[in-house]
Amino acid sequence: MKKRYDFRSDTCTMPTEEMRKAIYEAEVGDQGYGEDIATNKLEEYCAKLFNKEAALFMCSGTMSDQVALRCWTNSGDEVIIDESYHINYFQGAQSIDIGKVILNTCKTPDGIIHVSDIKERLNSRMHDNTFTRTKLLSLENTINSHGGRIYPIEVLKENYEFCKTKGIKVHIDGERIMNACIASGLKPSDYAQYADTITMSFSKGLGAPFGSIIMGDKETITRARKFRRWYGGHLHQSGFMAAAAYFAVTHNVDRLKDDHANAKLLVDIIRKNTDKVVLNDPMTNIVMMDIKNLGVTADEFVKKCSEKDILLFPYNEYIVRAITCLNVNKEDVIYSANVINNIINEILNK
Ligand SMILES: Cc1ncc(COP(=O)(O)O)c(C=O)c1O
Repeated sequence: MKKRYDFRSDTCTMPTEEMRKAIYEAEVGDQGYGEDIATNKLEEYCAKLFNKEAALFMCSGTMSDQVALRCWTNSGDEVIIDESYHINYFQGAQSIDIGKVILNTCKTPDGIIHVSDIKERLNSRMHDNTFTRTKLLSLENTINSHGGRIYPIEVLKENYEFCKTKGIKVHIDGERIMNACIASGLKPSDYAQYADTITMSFSKGLGAPFGSIIMGDKETITRARKFRRWYGGHLHQSGFMAAAAYFAVTHNVDRLKDDHANAKLLVDIIRKNTDKVVLNDPMTNIVMMDIKNLGVTADEFVKKCSEKDILLFPYNEYIVRAITCLNVNKEDVIYSANVINNIINEILNK
């Protein structure tokens, strides 16, 4: 097969031979009876890693988020969130239809919600027992829409402490939390201490083919187990997937620093060529290219790149996203950045 340089998402990784071996050798049982050894091992490992009482293996990040919404809210309750977060930007329909919540969205410039933003949202409509009640603050770390931005830990602490005074729980969509840990030097438990529930994906930068996990207190995870079943996520021999996830979280975390270096490299090479494309300074593995000045749409730009075997993701009308992950090494990034530069130069008639 012709080589493709896949920057669409870190979900596009393929299991390595070693990971496939771990899947093959998984000790499985029917998890309906709590007998799947590999799944239990993964959940125990993650609960400890995040210093939470319990963890529950989930089919996807979306399922983890939707179950979290369900655990913390009732129909008609309100969730404060930034408009850019996955739970709103991509899961808006699910959050309303399945979660039955009102998303009260902040419009921050960088995706970082501060206490002042929470206060503003609390004042944005009448809240009392006969209207809607704010039950949850939902955060994201790292923030996908903002180029993998890392939440400052002190802001998480301030938000958490403020929410406690208001009886509001805090959920962190931490699908890429390990990217935050590797880049910041903080531990998963450092971030988790400021959340009532937190998730982590195995099938993004960590390179497993399947799954996410949610951590929290025992009572909440027991509720999550019920909703997971309601949503069709009650898997039986889940250990085949859990074994890949365990392999991912025990082998593929340190190497995330290479992805972060590659994201910076991609930006550097494109910036050297032109200032017409506006790029973020990636803190982790996500590059956002604002191509409005080129006079083409993101869809058109992505199509031109795919004709040269460089796969990118059109995030909105003029933003193109590139994610670095196991799919691309340094040489691939250098090659791809030069191809992208040639396409930019053709468009600019340089
Ligand atoms: C921040 C964030 N949360 C949740 C999800 C949903 O994850 P999944 O695709 O596993 O449902 C994604 C997917 O990219 C994401 O980036």
